[in-house]
Amino acid sequence: MRSQSWRHLAVYAAALAFAVAGTNAQTGSLTDLGTLLSGQKNLTTFYGLIQVLRYVSSPFSRHPELIELRQILAPNNDAFKKIPYTELNKAFSDNDQDVITNVLEYHLLQGSRTAAELIPGDSVFIPTLLTNKAYSNVSGGQRVQNVKQSGDVVVFVSGLGNRCTLTQADLKFTGGVVQVIDSLLIPPSNLTETFDSFNLTAFEGALYQTKKLESFATAANSTIFVPNNDGFQLLGPAIANMTVEALGSVLDYHLLPGQVLYSTDLKNGTKLPTQNGGNITVLHSGNNLYVNSAAIVQADILCANGVIHVIDNVLNPLGPGAQPNPAIAEQGAVFASASEYSTLPFTTAIPCTTSCPVTSSSVASGSGVTGGAGTKATSAAGSKSSSVKTSSSKAVAAAMARETGFHAAGLMVALGGAVMMIG
Ligand SMILES: *[C@@H]1O[C@H](CO)[C@@H](O)[C@H](O)[C@H]1NC(C)=O
Ligand SMILES: *[C@@H]1O[C@H](CO)[C@@H](O)[C@H](O)[C@H]1NC(C)=O
Ligand SMILES: *[C@@H]1O[C@H](CO)[C@@H](O)[C@H](O)[C@H]1NC(C)=O
Ligand SMILES: *[C@@H]1O[C@H](CO)[C@@H](O)[C@H](O)[C@H]1NC(C)=O
Ligand SMILES: *[C@@H]1O[C@H](CO)[C@@H](O)[C@H](O)[C@H]1NC(C)=O
Ligand SMILES: *[C@@H]1O[C@H](CO)[C@@H](O)[C@H](O)[C@H]1NC(C)=O
Ligand SMILES: *[C@@H]1O[C@H](CO)[C@@H](O)[C@H](O)[C@H]1NC(C)=O
Ligand SMILES: *[C@@H]1O[C@H](CO)[C@@H](O)[C@H](O)[C@H]1NC(C)=O
Repeated sequence: MRSQSWRHLAVYAAALAFAVAGTNAQTGSLTDLGTLLSGQKNLTTFYGLIQVLRYVSSPFSRHPELIELRQILAPNNDAFKKIPYTELNKAFSDNDQDVITNVLEYHLLQGSRTAAELIPGDSVFIPTLLTNKAYSNVSGGQRVQNVKQSGDVVVFVSGLGNRCTLTQADLKFTGGVVQVIDSLLIPPSNLTETFDSFNLTAFEGALYQTKKLESFATAANSTIFVPNNDGFQLLGPAIANMTVEALGSVLDYHLLPGQVLYSTDLKNGTKLPTQNGGNITVLHSGNNLYVNSAAIVQADILCANGVIHVIDNVLNPLGPGAQPNPAIAEQGAVFASASEYSTLPFTTAIPCTTSCPVTSSSVASGSGVTGGAGTKATSAAGSKSSSVKTSSSKAVAAAMARETGFHAAGLMVALGGAVMMIG
């Protein structure tokens, strides 16, 4: 044990002793992280941020078990200027160091895959150093999705479907590689925020109505197949008039407890046990993925306690043998006496306090979901702005003030503190 701790310390020292840039010994042809970052004009904000965070709270030393750190996603200076238009705005404008530390940890990836090794079209789900349970109630560190799209565009997809693009690949340093990205990753949100963001309000309301929301939201390592609103509307009274017990059983049939299965894990023909006790069956047909007879219309929405796949229909535990008709785009309802309602069931059960359902993000439709990255872009003002939880201490957002122009006074304090601790 002792030699292991020593090894950890040595790795930290080698990979992360970057604070006093320029004074490091030469280590072969590769440079240390600090020298690498300080030489990149587009990474000055990120460099400032990690210097401050390291001395304020040592995020790196929190996770000795996860020291296989090899890949750092470094947002460029322009990325930090976009923060006001993202879910991170509140945390950064409040200088909420705890949340910002979690955000940073989400940018530190385990494993040494380089961008050059990605296979076009195949998503990989890379574990990060983010383990705070509010964003990561999954084993082994919250994941970020990485996929190379056509035209060799490499995309990373984070919480709430936010995407960013690789702008500069595989800058090597002694401890791994730095990948430069054009927006910050957003740590995955809890269930209610994710449902609200993707307009999955009938399912959310049904969870409230059956008092199952809490158990779904706090179930670690979960895969949840969430029918979209159209899927509920198709059923009308067939579901709206169910008893609480029957509805609860239907909802449980959509939860796979204790296993996080991304789209790439959903193998053809697999039977998967649900919370309800019954199995659901995965079917591949062409580019489409189905569970029972429902098509997955948006795969791989990362959430705090696992992953959500949006489906076009409510699954019926009493008809586990339902098969899709891949020849048609929208699968029919699998409940007796379904008839389409004009109103959306269950949404009135959602308490409308601070976070009422909003209708902001795009919900991808149709086919070809296995690539998975067809989600929301982190861009302009459409995004919700307050979703990452904030809590206590201050001091850090200042590190990017130099580039963004806000919180200049805080910057001096924060950098002053860091410099004192270095010296
Ligand atoms: C650095 O940023 C500028 C402006 O944002 C951009 O034009 C340039 O391509 C970036 N350089 C690299 C290597 O990413
Ligand atoms: C989630 O997975 C981790 C690692 O496999 C495990 O330690 C933890 O107990 C799991 N939690 C649940 C509730 O399944
Ligand atoms: C994480 O999962 C565990 C086990 O399911 C649960 O008890 C706990 O409340 C969850 N934590 C959060 C923050 O959801
Ligand atoms: C469902 O409930 C509504 C109102 O509660 C009622 O009008 C309707 O007749 C019911 N339908 C069925 C099929 O029971
Ligand atoms: C679920 O599938 C497993 C494995 O295929 C099987 O052993 C089990 O009997 C099935 N359970 C039900 C309730 O059908
Ligand atoms: C999936 O399995 C079914 C039979 O279980 C088969 O008919 C179908 O062709 C398979 N799909 C693919 C894409 O291989
Ligand atoms: C959300 O779902 C409702 C019900 O299906 C629909 O009327 C509304 O247009 C949807 N909003 C968005 C933004 O997709
Ligand atoms: C999700 O997070 C928001 C913001 O922190 C909070 O208001 C909401 O209650 C949380 N939802 C659950 C199910 O914990």
